[in-house]
Amino acid sequence: METEREILDIVGVGFGPSNLSLAVALEEHESARCGEPVAFAFFERQPRLGWHRNMLLPSAKMQISFLKDLATFRNPASRYSFISYLHERGRLPQFVNNQDFFPTRLEFHDYLEWAEAGFADRVTYNVEVTGIRRPAGAGPGPLESVEVVVRDTRGETSAVRTRNVVVSTGLVPRMPIGIGRDDRVWHSSEFLERFRAMDPRRLRRIAVVGAGQSAAEIVRHVYDELPHAEVSAILPSYGYSIADDTPFANQVFDPAATDEYYFGSDRSREAFWRYHRNTNYSVVDDEVIRALFQRAYDDEVAGAARLRFVNLARAEQVKRIGDEVRISVHSLATEQVSDLDVDLLVCATGYDVMDPAGLLGDLDVHCLRDAEGRHRVERDYRLVTSPELRCGIYLQGGTEHTHGLASSLLSNIAVRSGEIADSLVGRRTSPQTVS
Ligand code: FDA
Ligand code: NAP
Repeated sequence: METEREILDIVGVGFGPSNLSLAVALEEHESARCGEPVAFAFFERQPRLGWHRNMLLPSAKMQISFLKDLATFRNPASRYSFISYLHERGRLPQFVNNQDFFPTRLEFHDYLEWAEAGFADRVTYNVEVTGIRRPAGAGPGPLESVEVVVRDTRGETSAVRTRNVVVSTGLVPRMPIGIGRDDRVWHSSEFLERFRAMDPRRLRRIAVVGAGQSAAEIVRHVYDELPHAEVSAILPSYGYSIADDTPFANQVFDPAATDEYYFGSDRSREAFWRYHRNTNYSVVDDEVIRALFQRAYDDEVAGAARLRFVNLARAEQVKRIGDEVRISVHSLATEQVSDLDVDLLVCATGYDVMDPAGLLGDLDVHCLRDAEGRHRVERDYRLVTSPELRCGIYLQGGTEHTHGLASSLLSNIAVRSGEIADSLVGRRTSPQTVS
């Protein structure tokens, strides 16, 4: 960690794929500019790099092409490309023979860990960033730098001073209103770790809420892993709907679409969401839908249905009775509420987008908002701030309202990180230290 006197150029909060991609862009920026060093550091609360580890189900596949890796769309010659990784692992010919654009999530995770190894000295793990604040002793006048406060696993805090912060803390798990988590009521984001810790013999009735990719993957997993169990899928829709990844629709994730969205009108932005929300939210990949339907059909043929789809239904409340979970299920078809008793309830009920306000604390008043109360963001992902705050606060995520559908996804991280790196380096002033 830095001494108190040093001011870094950039501190990254979180070290998931977005900030890893930024680290790659900064390194490549430095070498392209013949080594003019940029002082940057990242802080990550997990003990090591982990990309949604609790959803690394063995059969789960990526939802984007392997070419949308950490770097290729920005720099096809990057040494951090997925192809470079395959080459180094000795798997490039086999990958090509496999003729699949979409690796498993497990393989992509291995790729991320491979890339992360190049930045081990830039990341501090096991520390949570708890806030961003005015530096102690800062005089009057515009703030050129801020302090990022970090807390380690012993609860001890320290602060790092920086001229720019890149907040990339990821999606926030969302439970249905009125349903809290406990040892038998989980969110999908905690699934695998908890599932592995359970005695499978005690899981005979399982319910999974939601009609998105997480829900469908978990239903398939528990159905396959627990052949003795009954699995109920509680769906707000009339069955799972397909994630549109056809070529025209997929263009909404192109780098060019970011400009179309950012510089578009309110009407055009609304049209992006109205027509293309089904590329990502509350939708499921074709292959998983078909796999689930096949299982249900095979059960029917065998006369032993144990996969049940509760359509047009929402989970409203739960009550614990010993080891049992009683779910109140509201049927949208009949407007009736009925009880469903299970041994385990998994809420694959989605995520809220990242909001930096909590971390910004008192500094948030210097970050300007639009008429709907959302943060204003420059095209280069820098928060628009009042003149009192001249330090750069950049967002990777949480910019759906300004930059569009790809904001919380991997699709555009190579290009976005390059744009942020260009902006950070371009706006950089000469190095200083505090006296
Ligand atoms: P991400 O959430 O990955 O990383 C944020 C990091 O910040 C985490 O490591 C977290 O621990 C850390 N952090 C948070 N708060 C902190 C704090 N206060 N201090 C320190 N560290 C902190 N998208 C896509 O395009 N294709 C895909 O295939 C998938 N697949 C997929 C699977 C699953 C199961 C989910 C839930 C989501 C996806 N996504 C996806 C979308 C997903 O948002 C995307 O893959 C990336 O995780 C985005 O990377 P980020 O680095 O922005 O966030
Ligand atoms: P999601 O797409 O937001 O789906 C959440 C689902 O839960 C929605 O169908 C929602 O319906 C439903 N829901 C919420 N509250 C409910 C309630 N009380 N009762 C019944 N249903 C309820 O979330 P997700 O599936 O976790 O996907 C999030 C992101 O992760 C997406 O980008 C997805 O592509 C990604 N992902 C990727 C993979 C992979 O790469 N293999 C795997 C999993 C997830 P309403 O919208 O009607 O509320």
